[in-house]
Amino acid sequence: MSIRRWTDTLLSVRVTRDPAFRFTAGHYARLGLVGREGEAVVRPLSIASAATDPHLDFLCTLVPGGAFSALLSASMAGDAAEVDRASYGFLTVGALAPGPDLWLLASGTGLAPFLSILLEPTVRTSFERIVVVHSVRIAAELAAARDVARLEREPAMPGRACLRYLPVVTREPGASTLSSRIPALLEDGRLAAAAGIPIDVERSRVMTCGNPAMARDVRRILAARGFRPTRRSAPGQMVFENYWQERP
Ligand SMILES: Cc1cc2nc3c(=O)[nH]c(=O)nc-3n(C[C@H](O)[C@H](O)[C@H](O)COP(=O)(O)OP(=O)(O)OC[C@H]3O[C@@H](n4cnc5c(N)ncnc54)[C@H](O)[C@@H]3O)c2cc1C
Ligand SMILES: NC(=O)c1ccc[n+]([C@@H]2O[C@H](COP(=O)([O-])OP(=O)(O)OC[C@H]3O[C@@H](n4cnc5c(N)ncnc54)[C@H](OP(=O)(O)O)[C@@H]3O)[C@@H](O)[C@H]2O)c1
Repeated sequence: MSIRRWTDTLLSVRVTRDPAFRFTAGHYARLGLVGREGEAVVRPLSIASAATDPHLDFLCTLVPGGAFSALLSASMAGDAAEVDRASYGFLTVGALAPGPDLWLLASGTGLAPFLSILLEPTVRTSFERIVVVHSVRIAAELAAARDVARLEREPAMPGRACLRYLPVVTREPGASTLSSRIPALLEDGRLAAAAGIPIDVERSRVMTCGNPAMARDVRRILAARGFRPTRRSAPGQMVFENYWQERP
């Protein structure tokens, strides 16, 4: 594997993709690292690269006391990493009911599946507008989203969704125009105002990924506006991926 460090606690990991490993943009893989004593630690990680790339990219945060984080922190370029044969997940564009506007709401490394989704050629032609909202603690953590910022600067083309990128830095006053947490911005209309389009059940399709407390609050706010989550039996207007369990 190869590793790119964005900050002390945020890094990108790249491994070779076995040609037999296929996935849908938005899926996660199970990545295994092995420690010096031979102990293996496997964790689900969203795939950040395009489904056609010869490699798999992951965006990883190092959490204090985490077993996987400890191994990853000690890893070096060329170290081995194992990827399970299958990919998993329900955070896919295909899980949503059709609609013209796609909202991608991410906290921290929750941006990863959206990087893959944005690289999917049909996504830009399936929607009229795409808004990417990325909430991080400090501005340095936006570095991993530089490809989204680049996509936003590309000239508009007929038949392709125009893309808005709204970074949110919550712990460095002045670092971004928006600085409150995503649910607060959603609830009082600042998110819609910043994007210049409404968030309503007729037009908007919303994907949320990352912090489970954020996802819970987004779900509550959108449910009050008539949004329904995707169920096995029926596609809805919102889908979620939680990266860990909320503590009671
Ligand atoms: C479907 C799915 C996809 C995931 N995709 C990613 C991904 O793309 N990138 C990634 O870094 N992690 C992702 N995770 C989390 C990942 O599986 C591990 O939890 C993470 O790598 C830390 O592992 P650990 O063993 O060091 O700590 P763990 O023991 O797994 O976690 C300890 C604590 O750290 C915090 N934590 C864990 N992951 C994160 C995170 N990503 N951001 C902020 N706080 C966190 C939580 O409070 C958690 O309880 C995903 C989890 C799931 C369920
Ligand atoms: N990022 C760092 O600088 C840093 C440094 C050392 C260790 N860590 C550890 O690394 C782990 C990952 O941190 P992270 O910053 O990637 O993830 P995170 O804590 O989930 O924060 C990412 C973004 O989500 C926001 N957020 C947090 N809780 C929320 C909620 N309930 N509702 C809505 N938004 C919410 C944060 O805003 P707020 O800022 O308002 O919380 C921040 O903008 C954590 O365990 C942390 O302790 C992080």
